[in-house]
Amino acid sequence: MAEDIIAVADLTGEQAAAELARLAAEISRHDALYHGKDRPEISDADYDALKRRNDAIEARFPALVRADSPSRRVGAAPLATFAPIVHARPMLSLDNTFSDEDVADFVASVYRFLGRLPDNSIAFTAEPKIDGLSMSIRYEAGRLTTAATRGDGTTGENVTANILTIKDIPRQLPAGAPDVVEVRGEVYMAKSDFLALNAQMEAEGKQTYVNPRNTASGSLRQLDPKVTASRNLKFFAYAWGEMSTIPADTQFGMVKVFREWGFPVNPLMKCLHSTEEILAHYREIGLMRADLDYDIDGVVYKVDRLDLQERLGFRSRSPRWATAHKFPAEQAFTTVENIEIQVGRTGALTPVARLEPITVGGVVVTNATLHNADYIRGIGNSGERIRPDDHDIRIGDTVIVQRAGDVIPQVLDIVPEKRPNGALPYVFPKTCPVCGSHAVRELNEKTGKLDSVTRCTGGFVCSAQAKEHIKHFVSRNAFDIEGLGTKQVDFFFENEDPAIQIRTAPDIFTLQRRQESSSLTKLENIEGFGRVSVRKLFDAIDARRQIALHRLIFALGIRHVGETTAKLLARSYGSYSAFAEGMKAAAPMHGDAWNELNAIDGIGEVVAASIIEFFKEPRNMTVVERLLQEVTPLDAEAPTTSGSPVAGKTVVFTGSLEKFTRDEAKARAESLGAKVAGSVSKKTDYVVAGPGAGSKLDKARELGVTVMDEDEWLALISG
Ligand code: IVH
Repeated sequence: MAEDIIAVADLTGEQAAAELARLAAEISRHDALYHGKDRPEISDADYDALKRRNDAIEARFPALVRADSPSRRVGAAPLATFAPIVHARPMLSLDNTFSDEDVADFVASVYRFLGRLPDNSIAFTAEPKIDGLSMSIRYEAGRLTTAATRGDGTTGENVTANILTIKDIPRQLPAGAPDVVEVRGEVYMAKSDFLALNAQMEAEGKQTYVNPRNTASGSLRQLDPKVTASRNLKFFAYAWGEMSTIPADTQFGMVKVFREWGFPVNPLMKCLHSTEEILAHYREIGLMRADLDYDIDGVVYKVDRLDLQERLGFRSRSPRWATAHKFPAEQAFTTVENIEIQVGRTGALTPVARLEPITVGGVVVTNATLHNADYIRGIGNSGERIRPDDHDIRIGDTVIVQRAGDVIPQVLDIVPEKRPNGALPYVFPKTCPVCGSHAVRELNEKTGKLDSVTRCTGGFVCSAQAKEHIKHFVSRNAFDIEGLGTKQVDFFFENEDPAIQIRTAPDIFTLQRRQESSSLTKLENIEGFGRVSVRKLFDAIDARRQIALHRLIFALGIRHVGETTAKLLARSYGSYSAFAEGMKAAAPMHGDAWNELNAIDGIGEVVAASIIEFFKEPRNMTVVERLLQEVTPLDAEAPTTSGSPVAGKTVVFTGSLEKFTRDEAKARAESLGAKVAGSVSKKTDYVVAGPGAGSKLDKARELGVTVMDEDEWLALISG
C-alpha cells in the first residue's frame, strides 16, 4: 500500500508504471463489481478518485499510458431495464431520529402542530423498520395488476413479473376488498436464506453477496423472474398508496385489514401512548434485533389515527406524522492510509480519509469523510473541541470509524497509543489541488467567524467545479438524463475532441449536432458506446428539451437553492421569464422585486442574496442563455388541486388563529395549491386575520386586499 501515499508529483517513472498497472487492475475489478449487479465495494466518489489518480499519473507520464488504461474505456454495459411506473401517490421516505430527545421532540411536535396539550391522548404505532426495498403493489378489482419499486418516489420500476414469484404476496384479494388497492411494504431476504445462498455460492466457488438487502435488491432487479423465484424473497405490508375506499380509520386497523387479506404483517407492531412507552418498545426491539431472521435498522413510529395523519400532512419528502428511530451506528477500528482532498461543485475542499478496508456492520468501508480542516484538528462548527485530549487526525493513525445507515462513514476518534512515531499534523492545502487557485475560508458576516469550509476561489476556471456542476445538472432531481452518469460525465468532460467534449451544460444538448456535422471521432466507434447506447443517450437528452421549471432552477446549481427552494421559486414565479426578470429586478436588494422574493415563505435573506448573485454574474447568464436556446422550461404546473378555490392564490396568515395552529393552516393552504407568503404586497389575494393582527392587516387594508377571518377562510376552502 506504500505507493498509495506517494503524491503524483513525487512518483518516479518506475513507481508510476507500477501504480498505473495496479490502478488498471483495480478499476477494472470495480467496473466488474459495479456492473455485476449491486455489489460495488466502493462509493462513486472513491471510484472517481481512483480514476483521477490514474489520469493525473498519465498526464505526468504520457509515455506510460497502457493499452488497457481505464482512461481509454468509458460507459457501462447497459443494466437490466424495467418500464417506468408513475406512482398514483408518491412513495415518501421517513425523517430519522437518533436519540431519546429526538423522539420526545417528534411526539411534542405532533401535539404542537395539532394545537393540543401533550397529554398522552394521541396513540402512536411502533414497529420495526425493515431493511429491505420498499414496494407498491396495486390491485384492481381484487387482482394484482402491477408492482413497482420506490424509484425516486414519483416513478418506480415495473417489477410485476418478479413480484408475482413471491409466495408471501397474494395475487388475489378476498371479495369485498375495495376496487383499487395499493398495498405498500418491504421486500426483504431472510438472514437464514441469505446465509444459505452464500454457503451455496461459496461451495460453487462463486463470489458471495455482501448483505441481505443488496441481495434482495439484486434478486428483484433481474429481467428473468426465474432468478427472483429461486431467491425466496419475503414481504411485510405496512402502508398503502391509492385506495378507492379506506377500510379502517387507524394505522393499526389498516395493518390488521392487510393481514386479513393475506399479507404478512410484522408481529412486533404495538400501539402506544407516551414517549416512555415508545422508548421502552424501541429498547425491547433492539434487544431482539440479533435474533430476528430479518435485518432491521430502527423502529418506525406513526400517529395511529388516520384523520390526524391527514391533518398533519407532509413536508416535501416525508410525513409529519411518522419518524424512523434508528439504531445506533456500528463502529470499527482501522488505519488512515492517506488524506485526500475532493473538490465539490461549489468549490468546497472536502478532506477524505483513505482507510485500510474494514467491514463495518456488514459493509466494506474504504474511506470516510473528514468534513473540513477544523474537523481534522478536532474542532467543531462552533469552535468547540470534539475529541478528548485535543486529538487530531493524522496519516498513519488508527481510528474509530462509524457507519450509520446510508450515511457516509465518519472518523470519530483516534487511538493515541497507536500513533506511529513521526506522524505529523495534517497540513490543509492553501490552494485547490485541481486548479491551483487560492483556497480560502470565508468570513461569515453574521457570526464574524471563519467558515468551516475551505473553498477554491477558481470558480469558472476550476475544472473540478465545472465537472461537478455537470454531474449535478444531469442528476436525478435536476435534468435526470439517463446514460449520463458519473463515469460518462468524466469521459465527456475530459475528452479534448470538439465533437465530443462537454464542458458546460448546454454542450450536452449540442452533442448530437456536433457528432452529426463533424467528421471527427464518432462516439459509436469508441469502446464502451456502440450504436444502440449512443442512440439511447441522444434520445434521453432530447427527452429533456422540455423541462419542468423547478428542475431547471435546481439544475442551475445556485448555492443554497436545493430542490425544495427551487420548487418554491417555480411556484411563485410560474415561468422562467418571470423568474429571471424578477431576479434581475431584485438586484439592488431593495424595492418591490426584492421584497417579493423575500416574501416567499421558506426563502430567507441568505438564499435570496445568493440567487441575486447568481443572476448578476455575466458568465452564468451566458451559459443560461445558451442553455435556453436548447431547452424550453415548462411553466410551473398549476397545482394538482383542480376545483380548489384557492389554487394559485397568495395568502397571508396574521394574528392568532384558533381552529388551527399556524403551521397547520399553512400546510393545509399549500396542499390546496395556495401560496403562503410572510408579508402583504400587491400580489396578496387574501389576508386571513385573527385576533391581535397588526401591521399586516393595516397594510392589507391600505392595498385593498381581501381580508377575512378564520371562519370565512374555512368556508372558502371547504366550499
Ligand atoms: S412507513 C410515508 N414503515 O423506510 C412513509 N417504512 O426511510 C411510509 N421502511 O421508504 C413508510 N420499514 O422503505 C414504513 N415499518 C415501516 C418500514 C418502512 C421499512 C422503509 C420504507 C421507506 C423507508 C423510509
